[in-house]
Amino acid sequence: MADKLWIFDTTLRDGEQVPGCQLNTDEKITVARALEALGVDILEAGFPISSPGDFNSVMEISKAVSNPIICALSRAVEKDIQVAADSLKYAKRGRIHTGIGVSGYHIQHKLRSTPEAVMERAVKAVKFARNLVEEVEFYAEDAGRAEPGYLVQMVEAVIAAGARVVNIPDTTGYCLPEQYGAIIRLLKENVSNIDRAIIATHCHNDLGLATANTLAGVMNGARQVEVTMNGIGERAGNTSLEEVVMAIKSHKEIPVATGIVTQRIYETSRIISKLMNMPIQPNKAIVGRNAFAHSSGIHQDGVLKNRENYEIIDPKEVGVEESSIVLTARSGRAALKHHLSLLGFPLEGSELDEVYERFLVLADSKRDIGRKELLSLMGEHMDHA
Ligand code: KIV
Ligand code: ZN
Repeated sequence: MADKLWIFDTTLRDGEQVPGCQLNTDEKITVARALEALGVDILEAGFPISSPGDFNSVMEISKAVSNPIICALSRAVEKDIQVAADSLKYAKRGRIHTGIGVSGYHIQHKLRSTPEAVMERAVKAVKFARNLVEEVEFYAEDAGRAEPGYLVQMVEAVIAAGARVVNIPDTTGYCLPEQYGAIIRLLKENVSNIDRAIIATHCHNDLGLATANTLAGVMNGARQVEVTMNGIGERAGNTSLEEVVMAIKSHKEIPVATGIVTQRIYETSRIISKLMNMPIQPNKAIVGRNAFAHSSGIHQDGVLKNRENYEIIDPKEVGVEESSIVLTARSGRAALKHHLSLLGFPLEGSELDEVYERFLVLADSKRDIGRKELLSLMGEHMDHA
């Protein structure tokens, strides 16, 4: 049987940090309920020390949703951790996500510390959090650029201190899939107490590799993925939930299964895009307007013969009623025939050829052709008949 892959959604924390995406508490509750219905396992609700508003939102979300584990972020600072624990007091199941930078860059230039002192701080933070809540997750910030031997020691130390999930962020989106996968494999093979924890991926999309890196992590033993809806997040964004979930559903050779109700993906994506005022690019995988739209003649003909010629996902699987055959100057006779027959004009042979000629002239002067234009084309055709 496939292993469970835990879906950790950080739309309301890493996603909501994006300029212009800020939500008020009521809007966050709407998003949290949509994510709960979608079936996420862990919902990172915010960074409570960052503002009284965020603290309040984490608390209200904890009251409003009951299925997912509610997670609150904190730095490896006791005050942060205490405030995170306070914000989770109504959560049925709460988790503190604490951590610190582990790369040379972060240790020297951000924390202005030493590897030893950072490790001590990490262990102290995890122990402190463990006294306040049952579940502690540790993030090794900028793990993608960390020295591998140090990362192994760090992960071992925080697991020994009580972390039950260890998150390995590629904070800067720097890694290539093979490199990121190798980091996860290194931890699985070299951390002596790794069986006591789940390894999580947390990838950013600076090189457009977040989904590929996340999947490489899963293929090498990670069993939690940290993702956002529509891939929103810092800079170029985080790994997108819908891409990872549908890649896993489409590839049975990836030995995991998620509990996501995929038929809710499209609706959830639209709710979040609208509330966060964050449009979705038309060619965005899975949820973009064109993700299931066929526009060239060759593809349209192929899809009309058998949808699997050009579709690897049944649109219904993600909550889209059906794929569309868009009429443009690149469309062929098969697409025109299809649309005309939907309008009640089952044309064949020379009649179809004649209307197709007129259609091409019109389509060359317009972006795309809809019902109104087709009806007027048919009107002209009948006048000339
Ligand atoms: O990208 C990152 O490293 C993070 C951590 C705070 C988990 O978002
Ligand atoms: Zn992040």
